[in-house]
Amino acid sequence: FTVNWDVEAAEKGGYDHFMIKEIYEQPKAIKDTLSPRINKDNVIKLDDIKITKEELEKINRVYIIACGTAYHAGLLGKVLIEKYVKIPVIADVASEFRYGSPFIDENTLMIVVSQSGETADTLAALRLAKKNNAKVYAVTNVVGSTISREADEVFYTWAGPEIAVASTKAYTTQLVSMALIALDMAVKKGTIDKKEYDKVLNELRGLSEKAQRILDNTELIKKASEKIYKAQSVFFIGRGIDYDVAREGSLKLKEISYIHSEAMAAGELKHGTIALIEEGTPVIAIATQERLYDKMLSNIKEVKARGAYVIALTKQGNEEIEKTADTVIYIPDVVDELTSVLSVIPLQLLAYYVAVMRGCDVDKPRNLAKSVTVE
Ligand code: G6P
Repeated sequence: FTVNWDVEAAEKGGYDHFMIKEIYEQPKAIKDTLSPRINKDNVIKLDDIKITKEELEKINRVYIIACGTAYHAGLLGKVLIEKYVKIPVIADVASEFRYGSPFIDENTLMIVVSQSGETADTLAALRLAKKNNAKVYAVTNVVGSTISREADEVFYTWAGPEIAVASTKAYTTQLVSMALIALDMAVKKGTIDKKEYDKVLNELRGLSEKAQRILDNTELIKKASEKIYKAQSVFFIGRGIDYDVAREGSLKLKEISYIHSEAMAAGELKHGTIALIEEGTPVIAIATQERLYDKMLSNIKEVKARGAYVIALTKQGNEEIEKTADTVIYIPDVVDELTSVLSVIPLQLLAYYVAVMRGCDVDKPRNLAKSVTVE
């Protein structure tokens, strides 16, 4: 009697790839990141971030600096901090930021976001900020990483180990971390009213279960993947937070399926990219933001008129979009500020199914590394 003990297969826990396992771990990862920080009375307690009200009141500028997927999560931080804390925020990729001429002084807060906590450019940006007396928060997934050791305050995403090169559960936990950090700052500064705070907090609590609902029903996403897996080019469009998640969806698709893809702010389409839309070109249109919904419907009509095959992603309740788009994927209803935690999941799945259909090495895409420690 012999046992063929394949360690890797065992670690995949019955899934074909680490990426899909990690996609399915998101409801738990979201809960693990949120639960220890929200008590039963809806009070956020970030023991890991000790900044005082007085220190916070001095901050007049925030930089959110990261690379790749972590940068895309940082984009939500900008939206939420500007909205709830009313401080101007610049979000930038570390490799650009560090070679620019940023305004950094003791009244600057830098938030670096890094799954591994080892990315060379992000670390260099952190060191630049510290050299100029800024306060630095790190949002990272790896306890004891270089970035966690060098930052003033560390907020851990409790996503658990992420093995697949394409980041999934690290991203969704970074998004909820951004929300917690923004809300904590807003409460300390008194810039958010109780009603709004309670609403967002209750919605945060509901995210894990809603993410699970998306994962329990993936048939439509598989069908949509079949429609696009032979494409040469795919375009992702959105506005506001939907544009930010479009960038992440596009990155996921290109990194693991090698299909050329681009994310566009939907309003910018007509300034160039629409020239590339022809019969059958897949366009993934993300339309979850209530105040931008009609604008997105017009953009969908514009690309449809040029022959695009449109897969729309919207919230339940927006069923009339079916009149315009070819396929519609719904996410459960959620407050506009938190949609990306849910809307990214169908995009991750789409990238995954397409990559599998194309026979790609999903967990170890060519030319890419999990952690980039060189400049
Ligand atoms: C690499 C990974 C990406 C990741 C980026 C930033 O490119 O392949 O998935 O988003 O680095 O990594 P970090 O560890 O700093 O989040």
